[in-house]
Amino acid sequence: MPYKFARDRENYELYAGGGVLYSAPGHAAFPVRLAHEIFGRCMAYWEAGQPARRCTLYDPCGGGAYHLATLAYFNWDRIARIVASDIDAEMLALGARNLSLLSLDGLDRRIEELADMAARFGKESHAAALAHAHTLRVRLAALTQDHAIETRWFRADATDKNAIVAGLDGTQADIVITDIPYGQRSTWHPATLALSAAEDPVPQLLDALLPGLSPGAVVAVAAPKRTQIQHERYRRLGKFTLGKRQTVFLQPSE
Ligand SMILES: C[S@@+](CC[C@H](N)C(=O)[O-])C[C@H]1O[C@@H](n2cnc3c(N)ncnc32)[C@H](O)[C@@H]1O
Repeated sequence: MPYKFARDRENYELYAGGGVLYSAPGHAAFPVRLAHEIFGRCMAYWEAGQPARRCTLYDPCGGGAYHLATLAYFNWDRIARIVASDIDAEMLALGARNLSLLSLDGLDRRIEELADMAARFGKESHAAALAHAHTLRVRLAALTQDHAIETRWFRADATDKNAIVAGLDGTQADIVITDIPYGQRSTWHPATLALSAAEDPVPQLLDALLPGLSPGAVVAVAAPKRTQIQHERYRRLGKFTLGKRQTVFLQPSE
């Protein structure tokens, strides 16, 4: 059993893409349990070097922010802020809609949409999604009594340091979890700066992140096993492999 933090099989059905959470055809959502495990490992590394506080979580290839939204529901008390960016405007719009589900207003809008679809089409899947949305609303109402999670998103090429610095606008990320494009259903966008400079995007992404990281920040990069994930200005904290996917945990070395 490779899981250390996501040991129990929780009811992930509530969070299935295309149910309450928005999804886009052809875009596979990151597995919820794996995201939960990666976040748990990041927090363990991060908290080993810091007094306890809530983190700012960032993904520079955030896509539909599906994993970020589900992580929030599972780890609400550990997260102060979620920031997502992506080069693709459509993915960013999808991400914004999923992050809106972390506020009661946003979830109420989703409930109205699902109620409307259930009434118009009479499909079982819409009725099930509506029931799940009501369950999530009860959960969210309790969670937001304690604190709200601030959410932000911006459009940027993850390999363009200036664009990332400008988009973060002084916000420092404590935890970065990113599922980089891996070549099957998701590829590096043709406008990626690293590609036009004939550079490997991974070191360029790690370089672009450096100014936006808080001291002691932890960066987790999920990628296919064969991908080289290293950078001279980061030290490697560990690696977690599941199936064909590896996740490498790094920390800036200075
Ligand atoms: C594997 S998907 C991430 C999916 C996300 N984890 C989710 O759960 O929705 C990779 C994302 O990287 C984005 N991407 C591709 N090239 C990029 C670049 N140069 N900068 C930022 N994002 C990029 C794609 O638009 C895609 O949304």
